[in-house]
Amino acid sequence: MEKIEEITLLYEISETLNQHMDLKKSLYMVLDILANSLNMVRGTITILNPITDEIRIEVAHGLSKDAMERGKYKLGEGITGKVIQTGKPIAIPKISQEPLFLNRTSSRKKGGQDQELSFICVPIKKGNQVIGAISVDHPYEESYSLKDGTKLMSVVATMVARHVINLETIRQEREKLKEENRRLRKKLENRYRITDIIGNSNKMREVFQMISQVSKSNATVLIRGESGTGKELVANSIHYNSHRSKSPFVKVNCAALPANLIESELFGHEKGAFTGAIRQKLGKFELAHKGTIFLDEIGSLDLEVQANLLRVLQEKEFERVGGHRTLKTDVRIIAATNKNLEDAVEDGSFREDLYYRLNVFPIYLPPLRERKTDILLLADYFLEKYAKENSKLIHRFSTPAIDMLMEYHWPGNVRELENCIERAVLLCEEGVIHSYHLPPTLQTGTESNTLPAVSLQAAVENLEREMIIDALKNTRGNVSDAAELLATTVRIFSYKAKKYGIDYQQYR
Ligand SMILES: Nc1ncnc2c1ncn2[C@@H]1O[C@H](COP(=O)(O)OP(=O)(O)OP(=O)(O)O)[C@@H](O)[C@H]1O
Ligand SMILES: [Mg+2]
Repeated sequence: MEKIEEITLLYEISETLNQHMDLKKSLYMVLDILANSLNMVRGTITILNPITDEIRIEVAHGLSKDAMERGKYKLGEGITGKVIQTGKPIAIPKISQEPLFLNRTSSRKKGGQDQELSFICVPIKKGNQVIGAISVDHPYEESYSLKDGTKLMSVVATMVARHVINLETIRQEREKLKEENRRLRKKLENRYRITDIIGNSNKMREVFQMISQVSKSNATVLIRGESGTGKELVANSIHYNSHRSKSPFVKVNCAALPANLIESELFGHEKGAFTGAIRQKLGKFELAHKGTIFLDEIGSLDLEVQANLLRVLQEKEFERVGGHRTLKTDVRIIAATNKNLEDAVEDGSFREDLYYRLNVFPIYLPPLRERKTDILLLADYFLEKYAKENSKLIHRFSTPAIDMLMEYHWPGNVRELENCIERAVLLCEEGVIHSYHLPPTLQTGTESNTLPAVSLQAAVENLEREMIIDALKNTRGNVSDAAELLATTVRIFSYKAKKYGIDYQQYR
C-alpha cells in the first residue's frame, strides 16, 4: 500500500470516529473503510469482557450473524485470545499453515480449493490494559509486507481505543449529570409532596381532598387558619402539585414591607419612579410569570395596593410603579391570612370586591387543638426528623409526656409543637422523651384558651414523679440502686416515692 493511500485511510477513519457517537455504528464504519481500501475479505473487532474474561465479536465485516454469534473465545484461546492476553500483535502469512487457527466462525475453509488468506490481529489498548482486538483477513500476496500491514492496523487500533475511551467518559459524565438531576428533583418532590403534610384527622383529610381538587386548576386559592397551622406548607403543596410546578413559586409577605414599598415589590418600578429608584426593578408578578405567586398575610395589604391587586385579578394586567406600559401576566394567585377578613371588610380596611375575588376557593386549616388525633402523629414525625438531624437515637415519648402533649391547647399550633419537639430532642440524652424534656408551658396543661399559669411546684412534682418511676423501672424496683441512680439517699427517695404514692412492688 502506498504511503499516501495509508494516510488517506487513517484520515477517513479519524473523521468517521469524530462524527459518530454510537460505538457500534462507528466501529462498523471503520471496518467498511478498511474493507474498501485494504482489499480485506473479512474483518472483526472483538471486545474483552473484563469480568467474565470472555471475548466477543462486537462488529464484523464479511461474517454472517450466526458466524458472529459463534465467534466467542476465552482469554488466551486461539489467535485473537492470544493477542488480547499478551497485548502483542500477531500476523500470519498463510492461515492454512497455522495450527493455532481455531476457525470458530467456520467462515474460512482450511486448504482446499479456497484462496489462501493472510491474517493480522492487533490489540486495542486503553493504557496498559487490553480491551479488545481488530483482526483482518486478506488474500495472500507474495509482495505484501505483513510488517507494514501490522503497523498500519496498530495505528487504527490506537484510534479506535481513543474513541472508546472518549465515549466512555462522555457516557459517565452524562450519567453523573442525570443522577444529579434525579437527586435534585427528588429532593424537591420530597419537600413538597402532599404526603409531607402530616395529618390523619377528618379535618385534615378534607384539606388534602381540597388540595388535590384545586391543584390542577388555575383557581385563586385563599388559605385561612391561625398562625402556625401550615398555610405556607399548603401553598407549596398546591404549587408543586400543579402543572405550574416547573415554573417559579414566588412568595411575598405583604406584612413585612411598608405600604409604599409593597407596591414596587409586587409590580416593580421604573428607573426614577421615586427617590431611591436608581434602576428599573422587576416586580414579583413579573418574576412569577407562568408560575404561582403566594401572597402571605394578605390581610395586611394597604387599601391602595388592594386596588391594584384587584386589577391583576380581574384584567390580568398591571403597570410598574412610574411606568406607562401595561404588562400582561399569567400567574396563579394563592393568598393566605390568619386575620378575620370578614371583620376587615366590615370595618372598611379590606375591599369587599377583592375579598370576593380572593375567596373563590377557601381552604381552612383548623387549629391543632381541634384535631387532637394529629398531635401524636405530628410529634412522632418531628421526633424522627430532629433525632435524625441531631444524630440521636430517640424512639418514643414516655406516657406522661404523651399525656402532656395531648392536654396542651397549642396556641402556636403545629409550629409550636415542632419547636417543642426540637427542643426536647436537644435536651434528651436518653432513648425516650420524658415529660421533663418538654417546655414548662406544657407542664400544667389546661384546656383553656388563655395561656396556662405555670406553676413551678406542679412542674417540679411532675418531673420528680417521672424520674422516680424511671429509676425504679431501670433498677427493677431496687430502692437503694434507684436512689443511687438519682444521686440521692434512700431516705429521701423513699419519702418522695411515698409522697407520690409510688409502689416499688410494681417494678420488681
Ligand atoms: N400538617 C403538617 N405537617 C407537617 N408539618 C407541618 C404541618 N403543619 C405545619 N407544619 C410545620 O409547621 C411550621 C409552620 O407552618 P407554616 O409556616 O406553614 O404555618 P403558617 O400557617 O403559614 O403560619 P403563619 O400564619 O404564622 O405564617 C412549618 O415548619 C411547617 O413545616
Ligand atoms: Mg405563614
